[in-house]
Amino acid sequence: MSLKTIFVTGSSGLIGSEAVEHFDRQGHQVHGIDNNMRAVYFGDQGDTTWNLERLRRCTKNFTHHSLDIRDRVALETLFRSRPFDLIVHYAAQPSHDKARDIPILDFEVNAIGAVNLLEAMRLHCPKAIFVFLSTSKVYGDSPNELPLKELETRWDYAYPEDHNGINENCRIDRTLHSLFGASKASADLMAQEYGRYFGMKVGIFRGGCLTGPAHSGVELHGFLSYLVKVAISGGSYTVFGYKAKQVRDNIHSSDVVRAIEEFASNPRAGEVYNLGGGRENSISMLEAIAKVEEMTGKKMNWQYVDQNRIGDHICYISDLTKFKSHYPNWKITIGLDEIFRQIMADQRLRNVAPH
Ligand SMILES: NC(=O)c1ccc[n+]([C@@H]2O[C@H](COP(=O)([O-])OP(=O)(O)OC[C@H]3O[C@@H](n4cnc5c(N)ncnc54)[C@H](O)[C@@H]3O)[C@@H](O)[C@H]2O)c1
Repeated sequence: MSLKTIFVTGSSGLIGSEAVEHFDRQGHQVHGIDNNMRAVYFGDQGDTTWNLERLRRCTKNFTHHSLDIRDRVALETLFRSRPFDLIVHYAAQPSHDKARDIPILDFEVNAIGAVNLLEAMRLHCPKAIFVFLSTSKVYGDSPNELPLKELETRWDYAYPEDHNGINENCRIDRTLHSLFGASKASADLMAQEYGRYFGMKVGIFRGGCLTGPAHSGVELHGFLSYLVKVAISGGSYTVFGYKAKQVRDNIHSSDVVRAIEEFASNPRAGEVYNLGGGRENSISMLEAIAKVEEMTGKKMNWQYVDQNRIGDHICYISDLTKFKSHYPNWKITIGLDEIFRQIMADQRLRNVAPH
């Protein structure tokens, strides 16, 4: 990409901070919005101040704005002050369990916050590119309708035609989403509409498990980060339901940002993509626990509760076929072992402890 002014929401979070670093390294002017609301949702363990300080130290062209994406007036002032070429929207209330306690705040941040940004772009820089990070939870629990087979350590799809996982044709309505899934689905549909109805260059990415060392992992969000945190500190971890064989596909934050960069270099209007680690980066809870035990050389202290989380996926693997066919330069470059290694190394350095 030629040099641009890039706007990143959620810039102190996992994916936002990766994007800030990435685009700053390339010489773009990067503006980030983050008001550290992760600490409001999850308490001290979700505090992202350490990551903002890290960004301030390691970047050259990064300007931080401590703004709330619900604050339309502040957004309006910011968008009036300079034209943005690329807007990447990552700020969110990101936990489906947490949304139950704060339904209005969840909707205001996830749904209305997204519309505030889309509308600010339409009014002030309609030719810009907008990327929205949606979630696999927009499919609700419909992925659980696929026939499954039980293997020794994981669930897997029973039919060969489902081997690659869930594609974008999976239905998003008449299914149990959790309030978080519904607020993100609202934003996902509005983002599609700004693409299709207004012809704006808007891409929607439905994330599987996005992960990496910059996650301020907490029990309710950031499963690998939190699992490693517990394993290192000797705390205890609880697995909910599905015989601990539920499967997630994990993608490193840097592969997420590279996907967004590919989209930005050749954008489409209102296109939807699933984005996760795919089958090669999929792992079950039992397998993840075994892996951290192997890496730490210690047995993990974990317990099993038979009741699964409401609306939780049993086996979710993102089918990456559509994105790879539109953007053949992109592929997963960071495998699961390296993801675990990086998270562990970073957490040892930060000396983190769970609640
Ligand atoms: N991490 C995952 O597994 C995952 C999976 C699917 C989709 N996603 C989506 O990807 C995006 C990024 O996720 P993440 O893991 O980086 O989350 P994160 O919580 O690490 O980062 C989000 C950042 O947004 C900030 N924020 C929250 N509310 C805000 C508000 N009202 N105004 C300004 N800033 C606010 C938070 O302080 C936080 O730093 C989110 O939209 C999330 O829903 C994440």
